[in-house]
Amino acid sequence: MNEQIIAALSNRYATKAFDPSKKISDADFATLKEALRLTPSAYGIQPWSFVWVENKEVRAKLVGAAYGQAQVGSADKFLVIAAKTDLKQAIAEYITDTTTKAGMPEENLAGFKAMMDGSADVSTIEWYKKQCYIALGFAMETASLLGIDNGPMEGFDPAQFDEILGLNSKGLTSTVLLCLGYRSAEDTENANKPKNRFASELVNITV
Ligand SMILES: Cc1cc2nc3c(=O)[nH]c(=O)nc-3n(C[C@H](O)[C@H](O)[C@H](O)COP(=O)(O)O)c2cc1C
Repeated sequence: MNEQIIAALSNRYATKAFDPSKKISDADFATLKEALRLTPSAYGIQPWSFVWVENKEVRAKLVGAAYGQAQVGSADKFLVIAAKTDLKQAIAEYITDTTTKAGMPEENLAGFKAMMDGSADVSTIEWYKKQCYIALGFAMETASLLGIDNGPMEGFDPAQFDEILGLNSKGLTSTVLLCLGYRSAEDTENANKPKNRFASELVNITV
């Protein structure tokens, strides 16, 4: 297991060109979605949606809104991790879901709701966006372990993405992107670049 993890993470790289003939299997896609669903978040709020863009015409528009980065179009699966923008609504959704599953009245979480609502302000959106990056990490690691190539992306215009995908009306804003699929032979130069990382002793500090 230890060797497998390190081998998978050494093999992964920010893929810039995907082979359009290679598709992610249904079983692997289901595992990716389940890994995303299992992502932890602060207070367990899960302040996100995972937006899978299948429509190729929409994808083509998104390439333009991602400064021409072609991998947005060539990836087999393209994920927009979007943060919830209606803070109180996000908390209300969490409370309804939790209490429904537990078969208890929503009033049982009234104290929690008051605490969360009371502290919600503009900075909360940034906090929600940070949670999205945990999901990104879960998805990248899961994909890599499954042998699926992946490329995270922040190089895009969120306002344009939100407009194209109609996210504002859904109470969402695009936060970070993930291209998934299998590397193209045209991407060999990127794939073969040695990993550029600080040495272990430079990033691990014992205090
Ligand atoms: C949050 C995040 C955003 C990134 N955004 C882009 C991007 O918009 N376009 C791109 O080509 N690479 C992007 N990258 C890829 C990084 O440049 C790359 O992961 C880093 O240089 C390390 O290389 P490696 O992933 O190939 O090991 C992003 C990476 C992360 C983690």
